[in-house]
Amino acid sequence: MKLDDFRLKLGNKEFLPIIIGGMGVNISTIELAVEAARLGGIGHISDAESPAEVDQCSGTQFVRKKRERFKSNIKKRDKSGVHFDLKELAEAQLLFVSKAMESKQGEGAIFINCMEKLTMNNPQETLKTRLTAAMDSGIDGISLSAGLHLQSLALVQHHPRFRDVKFGIIVSSVRALKLFLRRATRLKRHPDYIIVEGPLAGGHIGFDANNWKQYDLKTIVREVLYFLKEEELKIPVIAAGGIFTGTDGVEFIQLGASAIQVSTRFTVANESGLPDSVKQEYFKAEEKDIVVNTVSPTGYPMRMLIQSPGLRAKTRPNCEALGYLLDRNGDCAYLNAYYDGLDRNNGESILVKDKICLCTHMQIYQLWTCGQSVHRLKDTTCRSPDGSYQLLTAEHVFKDYQFSEDHHIQLPKEVDGMVVKNTEIEKKPLTVKSD
Ligand SMILES: Cc1cc2nc3c(=O)[nH]c(=O)nc-3n(C[C@H](O)[C@H](O)[C@H](O)COP(=O)(O)O)c2cc1C
Repeated sequence: MKLDDFRLKLGNKEFLPIIIGGMGVNISTIELAVEAARLGGIGHISDAESPAEVDQCSGTQFVRKKRERFKSNIKKRDKSGVHFDLKELAEAQLLFVSKAMESKQGEGAIFINCMEKLTMNNPQETLKTRLTAAMDSGIDGISLSAGLHLQSLALVQHHPRFRDVKFGIIVSSVRALKLFLRRATRLKRHPDYIIVEGPLAGGHIGFDANNWKQYDLKTIVREVLYFLKEEELKIPVIAAGGIFTGTDGVEFIQLGASAIQVSTRFTVANESGLPDSVKQEYFKAEEKDIVVNTVSPTGYPMRMLIQSPGLRAKTRPNCEALGYLLDRNGDCAYLNAYYDGLDRNNGESILVKDKICLCTHMQIYQLWTCGQSVHRLKDTTCRSPDGSYQLLTAEHVFKDYQFSEDHHIQLPKEVDGMVVKNTEIEKKPLTVKSD
């Protein structure tokens, strides 16, 4: 059996059951999402720091303008007055999403990943603006992530596309799903799909940094499926986190999931937004390099490579230009840790060890978040005599998921005969606990 034997049905449309997950900031680029859609699956763009993203891909200057507006505040600890201009935010989101939708080809779809934890010094209004502008721009679907999203659907309930755009929620437990569904039921608007993200995923994870190993995706998917059956709810379930081969994916579909969401294998695609040098770091990564820590000011544990330069940077908070993690009072855990350290050190700049400036380092690709399977990427490609790994096309990775059987991973075609084969591919199944 291969993933190509199955289809994901959302409303009256059918897709290949392969979804490329949202990877902020601009790692899951428009180009990557467009490829997934062209090939008949679903690709995500991410609206994490969308003004910065649209600046990168369209040459606008949203970040510079915001920084300019608040430059007199740069050295001050109090960031409560540093707000996003909602009109500019809407404009940036509209430009960004429209660009993706205008480039879309094929039978697939483009969704956007919207994180609730981007509180932007005005949580409700900025989220409403981001969701509304994405819907105005013709987005096919919205995956609500990094938060419980108890208010999110209500924010856009009067939008003309409220029942047309596909809405999904990303959860890591039945408990979180129940809370979301209670609110959705009140609005008579159930999600169109549920992404169940397990402990091996990249980015922020919905498990404790110390005990994530006690959980496994198959068990949580089974629990969610059981709960939905009990409630007589027919909502497609999508499994995510550590699904490395098409065969891993088939196992989830045989369990009752309708599709898989995958990301780590696409981080090293040509179309991924990571700089090529960082893609090489992902290829080189060993299992011992992967950590789940609590340095993210969001409060969620995050998985990353220990070599990430952002972990060793003395970064002045950059809230005037960015400021995505400021809460409604203008606070952020990094901001506080930074200024407390500065006070203790008589104004000399310090290295904050237990928190990072996530906004800055995600934007400049110095925080190398990854899924737990990143150390297996080297088994998916060839290596040049100079030691570098050959980048892959998104199409190659996508089709490998689509057609692979028996955990086989197809290597790319060697470039100009310069490439020597990597060592024997290990046919490792996904690490999961047995029942
Ligand atoms: C580099 C990277 C960045 C990610 N960023 C986000 C993000 O911004 N928002 C989010 O909801 N999930 C994020 N994720 C999680 C993915 O969307 C996805 O659900 C998960 O990583 C799938 O597991 P896999 O990477 O093992 O295939 C990220 C994952 C990676 C690898």
